[in-house]
This record gives sequence, structure tokens and C-alpha cells, in this order.
Amino acid sequence: MKKSMKRVAMTIAALGLSFAVGVTSAFAAPDAARAGKGDKDLLSPDRVLNVAHRGASGHAPEHTIVAYQLAKKMKADYIEIDLQMTKDGHLIAMHDETLDRTTNGTGLVKDHTLAEIKRLDAGSWFNEAHPDKAKPAYKGLKVPTLDEVLRHFGHSANYYIETKAPEIYPGMEEKLLKTLEAHRLIGKHAKRGKVIIQSFSPESLKKIHALNPELPLVTLLWYENQQGHITKRELDEIKTYAIGVGANFDRIDRAYVQKVRKSGLLFHPYTVNEKPDMKRMLDWGATGMFTNYADRLTDLLKKNCK
Ligand code: G3P
Ligand code: CA
Repeated sequence: MKKSMKRVAMTIAALGLSFAVGVTSAFAAPDAARAGKGDKDLLSPDRVLNVAHRGASGHAPEHTIVAYQLAKKMKADYIEIDLQMTKDGHLIAMHDETLDRTTNGTGLVKDHTLAEIKRLDAGSWFNEAHPDKAKPAYKGLKVPTLDEVLRHFGHSANYYIETKAPEIYPGMEEKLLKTLEAHRLIGKHAKRGKVIIQSFSPESLKKIHALNPELPLVTLLWYENQQGHITKRELDEIKTYAIGVGANFDRIDRAYVQKVRKSGLLFHPYTVNEKPDMKRMLDWGATGMFTNYADRLTDLLKKNCK
């Protein structure tokens, strides 16, 4: 995508917010979008961040190097990485606390050493679950450690990392910060927004904030069977440690998104896979979103720049 087009795409979320004050639709206003800010600051509310949820997980086995590579190829702004911790204290890229769904192993991650987990196949399940997308190359893929992912992509990618189940992994936050520092992804040499940390655990985020107040944090919310609702008081509390909120997109409405945005927080809904839903989120003022199909969001943003 040309730089100018990318800049236009990334202003759409800001226009979604301006809907509240009278703009008919972000998607109907590409010219107004061109008047937006530059594309330097990843955390600007004028940008729409394309976050590849578990990598390009709609196309390849989630949380594998292959899925992250594909996400980059699809022009995702961020690779999303869920973290679990092994019995011997290694941070690995995995969504579930158990090995069962995404490998040929069984049991809890915390009960297995890294060496044991490295013997597992993290790709064949995908071929079986998605025969239409299966590839021989996915067979035998390994579970990567966070360190391996960061070594592989270095500063060529941006990382949106989630502390999963931090209550069962003591020391997870310290280990995460140490790993990021070792790769110079945080600290004085790093570009702001190179790494975003997210969690459903406010305790985990507050701990990280105390350890490193510069690190951008996003608090995740989950509305199970009820319509999402958030108060000014809750938003004010979140703002004491985080720069944004993420919530399940199918339980929120325009008023919710605009309330979050007006509070000054970014808003990144998850997991938005269909283009009509992506359009709706942008129209409501989302400043990015998690998707298994980074290619679809890239395509949508490109089309709306033309
Ligand atoms: O991190 C945003 C979204 O990924 C939260 O849901 O369960 O896919 O980690 P989950
Ligand atoms: Ca996640």
C-alpha cells in the first residue's frame, strides 16, 4: 500500500468517533480522512491497527512462526501473541492453558518442560480441522518460545502480547519484561508502540505498569451473555494504567465504543473476521481490531482509500 493510502486508511477510526458529532459515516468520508494525521505514531487515535490474532490464524496453525510470517505478508501492523509458561519457566506462544487443542500432547502447559513441549506437533491439528486449508508443511510445526519469535522477527514486526492466566504463572510479568529488554524492544532504544501488552487480568497489567510505566497496556473485557456496558468510573480507573480497551465485538454497540473513545482510550475489539463486522467497528470508532484474517482488513482499508 502506498504511504499516503495507508495514512488515509489509518484515520478511519478517528472518523468513526466523529460520527458522534455529525459525520454521516467514516466509510462515506474518504476525503475527510485524507485530512488526518501522519502514520508515524503507532498509538495515535488516528490510526487503525490491524492486529493478526494468533498470527494469520484463519489460514495457518495459530501461534506458529508460519502463521506470524503470513500475518506480516498480509501487512498486519501487529502480531498477536498469547503467552503461557512452561514448568521450567519458559514463555511460550500458546492460547490455551492445556496442550490438547493445538498440539498432539495432553495436559497443562505448566506441568511440562520446554523440552517436552518442543517434541510436540503444533500443526497437524490444523490440517485435520481445516482440510480445505491444510498444507503438508504444517505437519510437525513446533511451539515457539517468545524468545524465538522475537529472535526471528526482531524489529521488523510489532508485537501485541497477552499475559494469559497470570495467576497460575508467578513471575510471568518479570520474565516477559526481561525478554523484551533483551531484544531491545522496550527501553530507550525502542520505538513507542513496538510492543503493546494486553490482559484480561488488571492485576497483571498493574504489575507491569509498576515495573515499567512507559509500556502501553490494553485491558481486555469479556461480556459473556450480556450487552457490554462500561461506566465513566471504570474508564477513569483503566486510564490510570492503560491506554486502551479491548472487548468482544459482538456484545458492544456504537455508544459503548464512543464512550471509550471519548474517555481518551483506544478501542480494539476482538475477534473480527467478517468484512461487514470490520466496517461496523470502524464506523463506530474502533482504533484497530484483532482478526484471524489480517488480509481481509488490509483489503478493506485499502479499498476505502480509493
Ligand atoms: O487478545 C484479544 C483476544 O485475543 C482475546 O481473546 O481468547 O483469543 O485471547 P483470546
Ligand atoms: Ca489473545
